[in-house]
Amino acid sequence: MRACKRILVTGGAGFIGSAFIRYAISFADKIVNLDLLTYAANLDSLKSVENDPRYLFVQGNISDAPLVDALCKKHQIDTIVHFAAESHVDNSILGPKAFLETNVFGTFQLLEVVRNNPHLHFHHVSTDEVYGSIEKGSFNEDSCLKPNSPYSASKAASDCFVRAYTHTYNLSTTISHCSNNYGPWQHSEKFIPHMIKCCLENKPLPVYGKGLNVRDWLYVDDHAEALFLIIQKGKKGETYDIGGECEMQNITLLYSLIELLGADPSLITFVNDRPGHDFRYAIDCTKIKTTLGWSPRHSLEEGLRKTVAWHESYLSIPK
Ligand SMILES: NC(=O)c1ccc[n+]([C@@H]2O[C@H](COP(=O)([O-])OP(=O)(O)OC[C@H]3O[C@@H](n4cnc5c(N)ncnc54)[C@H](O)[C@@H]3O)[C@@H](O)[C@H]2O)c1
Repeated sequence: MRACKRILVTGGAGFIGSAFIRYAISFADKIVNLDLLTYAANLDSLKSVENDPRYLFVQGNISDAPLVDALCKKHQIDTIVHFAAESHVDNSILGPKAFLETNVFGTFQLLEVVRNNPHLHFHHVSTDEVYGSIEKGSFNEDSCLKPNSPYSASKAASDCFVRAYTHTYNLSTTISHCSNNYGPWQHSEKFIPHMIKCCLENKPLPVYGKGLNVRDWLYVDDHAEALFLIIQKGKKGETYDIGGECEMQNITLLYSLIELLGADPSLITFVNDRPGHDFRYAIDCTKIKTTLGWSPRHSLEEGLRKTVAWHESYLSIPK
């Protein structure tokens, strides 16, 4: 088992990275959060740890290899958990270049740092979207990478670099592919927070196509727990697929939110489908369940309740 006591988190001011820091802080001696603070970041999500002596925030770019190298040396880092990314599919369709720069080149620069500091363990947080769309059955760790959007292509490319560096330079790495996350602090560009916000503000609820696309949903704290298990106990060079075992059509999920929020269903507005929209993602998480003993703790009902309650309290705070 790896100690994982001194962790460099990239993209820790984002949705999942901040959940990971809030979870991991009680197990670690030091967590350095390196984040560029793009539009997607929100340091409010880290208020509960910002004065903790074990936590340090550094504003900077993952592509700045000398900075990353210096942080690893100065803080005697033993593990890097890499979340930093451009993460929104719609943005990747409008402007793919930033996705190549951050998700591919940024990951490459981090791998170069690990190559020069081979005692480091590097965990790459990736997505189930790298497998593409599946009509029946589910993807697992042996499935081919068949990305369909510029976002998923950039994540698949970075996965390939992690794999190649592991084999070529004998580095200690792990990769995870997770399904759609939801929970507190998610940016309002994403489906669930966007719909909750629209419901609370009594605004139209825009749904792509006919809302029949299927996604698997995982509460973000369950993802954080899975990642901590992987960095501690995951086998070097292995990939772990993480899912919520909770597949649902977007329209069904939206009706659940409408019911929870007491919103008006007539606000649903079907809009032109996203170009190349993957129809269904489904992930088989047997490996992480059987080898590392992880399973999702939150049912969708419980996770949505917590998420809605968080939005109601957060949006009521005067900004
Ligand atoms: N959101 C999901 O449902 C989901 C599912 C599976 C996997 N993932 C993966 O998890 C990771 C985190 O996703 P998220 O939803 O928390 O993303 P997010 O968009 O909420 O946060 C990304 C964070 O990365 C930071 N960042 C961006 N470019 C940077 C750079 N060059 N240098 C340093 N920091 C930079 C941003 O400032 C932001 O804080 C991503 O790699 C994503 O591909 C997300």
